[in-house]
Amino acid sequence: MGLLQKILIPILGLVLAFCFYSSRENFKPEMLKGKRVIVTGASTGIGEQMAYHLARMGAHVLVTARTEAKLQQVNGKLGTHTCTHRHRKANLTLQVVERCRALGASSARLVSGSMEDMATTRQLVEVAEAELGGLDMLILNHVGKSYFNYFDGDVGHVQKLLNINFLSYVAMTVSALPMLKRSGGSIVVVSSMAGKVGFPFTVPYSATKFALDGFFSSLRQEFSIQSVNVSITLCILGFIDTENAMRAAADVLLMSPAPKEECALEIIKGGTLRQREVYYRYASTKLPLLLRDWAAELLDLLVRQRYRPERLRAA
Ligand SMILES: NC(=O)c1ccc[n+]([C@@H]2O[C@H](COP(=O)([O-])OP(=O)(O)OC[C@H]3O[C@@H](n4cnc5c(N)ncnc54)[C@H](OP(=O)(O)O)[C@@H]3O)[C@@H](O)[C@H]2O)c1
Repeated sequence: MGLLQKILIPILGLVLAFCFYSSRENFKPEMLKGKRVIVTGASTGIGEQMAYHLARMGAHVLVTARTEAKLQQVNGKLGTHTCTHRHRKANLTLQVVERCRALGASSARLVSGSMEDMATTRQLVEVAEAELGGLDMLILNHVGKSYFNYFDGDVGHVQKLLNINFLSYVAMTVSALPMLKRSGGSIVVVSSMAGKVGFPFTVPYSATKFALDGFFSSLRQEFSIQSVNVSITLCILGFIDTENAMRAAADVLLMSPAPKEECALEIIKGGTLRQREVYYRYASTKLPLLLRDWAAELLDLLVRQRYRPERLRAA
């Protein structure tokens, strides 16, 4: 045991650190040039930032979201549209899409629709096939609105959130898989520390993120057994400074959020390098997880100490 602690564990740590940092250095933005990428939930937050990074790298970017709020701003200016698909496709180019084009995307388009409806998820992928002629990377990032408070017992809300945050990820994966198999592509699943550790005040959200880990980690194993050349990258994120997350949790959480721009880039790097998991930021996600199996109650205590429940908004 003494020998193990003194020699093997430090050596293992060094090997892991070497693997981690050497693979990061291999990333080159040119790797994304001309690649066909779907980013879901890209009207705002991390998804929006991913779309901009991909655009700068010269990818073909197809973004999805429900709303056309940002669209309204350019609505008057563009004013032309065609509606060639059964689903509700946005008729005008989103502000995000316009910016992607300006940043150098090989092409940029929006497909709008709610991920609560499984038929929509399939149709979104069909559009990608029709308009991009294939797919290299599917980035599943969208997240349904939930509350940040004690669990209120609303089973219907849990079910709705499971549809948006979990089942739609499954449905999109199933629909996109033939294209991804053809291209030897990648699936990138944006999850959370709340999908690895029980966090308070996000019970329905946490359940959906744990489900993602179970589904995609099992699927990765099957891909490996069947030699399916499609990578799956699960992204474990800490607190990020997106508008929605800040509005929900900034008053209650005793931690500083990490920048969404950098977070978005790390996700793209991890997916491109076909990493199994991405941890962002590394120190505040991966390191606490080392405690999870060995000192779960200590980790739970440390987590609880990061919250100020007295600041929760009245439900
Ligand atoms: N921010 C954080 O602190 C944090 C921490 C850990 C993990 N994450 C994960 O990172 C990802 C992005 O988070 P974020 O903070 O950037 O989120 P966000 O700013 O709230 O953006 C969510 C996106 O999802 C879309 N969306 C919401 N409901 C939808 C629906 N029913 N159908 C289709 N699209 C829908 C939204 O667009 P519309 O409303 O226009 O549809 C928006 O584009 C999520 O998976 C989240 O769980 C975030």
